[in-house]
Amino acid sequence: MRIERTRPGDGAKRPYPSVAPPRHLAVIMDGNGRWATRRGLPRAVGHREGAKAVRRIVESARRRGIGTLTLFAFSADNWKRPEAEVAALMNLFERYLAGEARRCVANGIRLRVIGRRDRLGPALVAAITAAEALTADGEAMELRIAVDYSGRDAILTAVALLPCGIPPTRQDLLAALGRAGCGGPPEVDLLLRTGGEHRISDFLLWESAYAEVWFSDRLWPDVADPDLAEALDWFSRRERRFGGLPPTPAVSLVASGGPREEPVHAA
Ligand code: FPP
Repeated sequence: MRIERTRPGDGAKRPYPSVAPPRHLAVIMDGNGRWATRRGLPRAVGHREGAKAVRRIVESARRRGIGTLTLFAFSADNWKRPEAEVAALMNLFERYLAGEARRCVANGIRLRVIGRRDRLGPALVAAITAAEALTADGEAMELRIAVDYSGRDAILTAVALLPCGIPPTRQDLLAALGRAGCGGPPEVDLLLRTGGEHRISDFLLWESAYAEVWFSDRLWPDVADPDLAEALDWFSRRERRFGGLPPTPAVSLVASGGPREEPVHAA
């Protein structure tokens, strides 16, 4: 395959894949309710269609070499929704886990659910435990589903696991998020949000410190592989500097004689 090298921001497309895909892709799946309402259907139907999009995106993320895929399925603030909608979502998660675990095994996907479990029903907790056990050996991709998840609460929970009196490093906290069952390494490389809103909504706050963020107007139930391809193509043209400077020679004006080239350190 011919690989075209382009400068970031010049709008030219490179054939996929030209650079490594993100190690960790995180997705805020928004727009199920609007998808249904626009069709005169109950919101729960939008969530069911959203589950079909989850299957599509899990499959394409695995095929495209994503190492970790984290999907925001239910935030700690979503408990504020009407009881019937919450019940429909919980039921959907339970059925998804029961139905998809075998497909995950067949595709080498390790499934984990992150977030609080103490407010979930026993049947859902049992389905989570079973799905995690069944898929534990998957090595092709880790699929994390965030249920009853809050990024701020995750940080508080992780901090409580750290030894008292010893100032933690960033890596310590990242590891503690993993031990607390509410996120953890690797840090997010690419964060996608569908549904036209431009918010992070308390998702993976610590892990997304240097994530590239892609927003799409597409409603989640309509999302499919070409959307992921577009986001990955965009990601492949990002210049990730992590606070440093571009790895290109810079021209500086020095008092001794005008412009000269000098190396600049990349971060
Ligand atoms: C936000 O859209 C979406 C949710 C709160 C639920 C996400 C759930 C799914 C994608 C379905 C199933 C998931 C799994 C893992 C099986 P919204 O309902 O707030 O949409 P709106 O902004 O249009 O109202």
